Amino acid sequence: MCGITGYIGTRNAAPILIEGLCKLEYRGYDSAGLALLHNGVLDVKKKKGRVAVLASEVQSKPFYATMGISHTRWATHGGVTDANAHPHISSDGNIALVHNGIIENYENIRKFCESKGYTFKSQTDSEALANLIAYHYEYRTNKDTKNRLLEAVRKALAHVEGTYGIAVLSKFHEDEMIAARKGSPLIIGVGKDEHLVASDVLGFAGRANRVIYLEDGQIASITKDNCEIITMGNKPIDLVVNDIDWELETADMGGASSFMEKEIFEQPKVLENAIRGRISDDSSTSVLNGLNMTPNELRQVDRIIFCACGTAWHACMLAEYYIEKYVRIPVEVEYASEFRYKNAPLDKSTLVFVVSQSGETIDTLEALRESKRKGFKTLAITNSVGSTISRESDGGLYQYAGKEVGVASTKAFTSQVLISLLVALYMARMRDLSFSAGKSIVDSIISLPEHVKNVLKLAPQIKQIAKKYAYKHDFLFLGRLGEFPLALEGALKLKEISYIHAEGYPAAEMKHGPIALVCPECPTVIFANTEEIIPKLVSNAQEIKARKGQLIAITDTPESFEGLADDIIALPKVHEAIMPIVATIPIQLLAYYVALERGCDVDKPRNLAKAVTVE
Ligand code: M6R
Repeated sequence: MCGITGYIGTRNAAPILIEGLCKLEYRGYDSAGLALLHNGVLDVKKKKGRVAVLASEVQSKPFYATMGISHTRWATHGGVTDANAHPHISSDGNIALVHNGIIENYENIRKFCESKGYTFKSQTDSEALANLIAYHYEYRTNKDTKNRLLEAVRKALAHVEGTYGIAVLSKFHEDEMIAARKGSPLIIGVGKDEHLVASDVLGFAGRANRVIYLEDGQIASITKDNCEIITMGNKPIDLVVNDIDWELETADMGGASSFMEKEIFEQPKVLENAIRGRISDDSSTSVLNGLNMTPNELRQVDRIIFCACGTAWHACMLAEYYIEKYVRIPVEVEYASEFRYKNAPLDKSTLVFVVSQSGETIDTLEALRESKRKGFKTLAITNSVGSTISRESDGGLYQYAGKEVGVASTKAFTSQVLISLLVALYMARMRDLSFSAGKSIVDSIISLPEHVKNVLKLAPQIKQIAKKYAYKHDFLFLGRLGEFPLALEGALKLKEISYIHAEGYPAAEMKHGPIALVCPECPTVIFANTEEIIPKLVSNAQEIKARKGQLIAITDTPESFEGLADDIIALPKVHEAIMPIVATIPIQLLAYYVALERGCDVDKPRNLAKAVTVE
């Protein structure tokens, strides 16, 4: 979603800020802007469209400054216009602000500011905050205070309901930038004689190896060589500076034509990374120290709730499938956005797990907080080291999948599914799963990267299939048991990058409604890799063909669909535990090639953001 970068130091700020915005482009945005400060002049440029548009504006009218703030906006309040783009400048010309998040009481703040004579140029919630800070600066702070800007921001934020990550400049403070956060990530990069600010470490990739993670309710006063942090209650905070592992954080396309392509094809390596050091061949189980729970504590758990959004939610459904099958305890999968408000009944032996690639999805983060507020042990599976979710959870497992840049989650999904299989195996072996059953799962996990490598070789065939169906308007995806989540994921992948309407259903539900859609214009993708239900799936296939529907079967039993399916994607026969991961690959490739065929931007699909940091 929106991205923030800021710079204060000794170098020309504009190229550094533009570079930072380019690195945040993957998060999704619709306009970009920056504000530079030099000799009491705030130079502001903002444009709807890509960062490149802003960059050429900056180049055509250069302004030298050694400090500035910049932003990519993903519209929430107000349309995509130059005026609504950030930074916003208070109407007295003093304050420049970039903001991520949503100010829920902005209308009241706006009315208050208007009553004090401040005026507005945009429809955004953020401009209200710029004016409120200007008001506090002018009327609610002591003019002789060294910390006047910091005080003005702190006092203004006390009136804000909602979420924010902000960076603020004042034309009267040549050597200071203020940053604050509540519910929207903000990180300070520490360099030599310079500091950077970004909403995602990638925003200062290659420029700082040490970072300070701002926590909710903290405000930082940053100069080129100093950083002081206080709480909203004006108490100083000790700085904790962390090192960044750039190998995990950075990503380039490495010769692929898009990040999505690269991320699909690197899955064998990603799966190896998820397994590395986590398998104990001797005891036929997994080794998951990150959970921070003793075997005894884990044995007390008699119910698990998984919370996530989007693709991560589909991964949770597979976690449910694995845990119920192997551990034999009940699992519920909740949309994080529902869980955080529904006050679900939990008891003391319930464990809550949140799953998030970015580690910053606001609903997932709030589900985690709600669970912790109630005193529950809350664990996380996340791909982003140092993310808010990873910092706030009581324990958890990193995916080590490497940065996922493509908006459509691919490698993160298969790695989350694999890690949930490791969790199921670990807990099952503490209970009733035998050594030999554990060993067969361990062996299958070890063989998984090789199987995925082989399925990726089907790419040319899947590309041809994609060409054949690329201009259909609707798709149905059907699967059962461990393949029902794949039906949902296949439909989501297709719709988000190719804009084709698609729905996923448990195959047997077809007759309860979706079959009405079946016709030559609505192809069906059916997963059929679970031996005991193949005959049922064949019946579904027949029902589709009887209604002139086109059928693509993804199956390890191709002989059952010969003469029936229009296209068959034949998969290897693998252990049931890893089958859902192997069977995911064709749907990723199908969505990818359909989108390419339709000329869609696979890495930056319309309207979508990589990390959804507002509700
Ligand atoms: O970063 P997270 O895993 O928390 O993100 C959750 C969803 O926003 C994400 O999976 C989204 O659905 C993707 N665009 C799916 O491809």
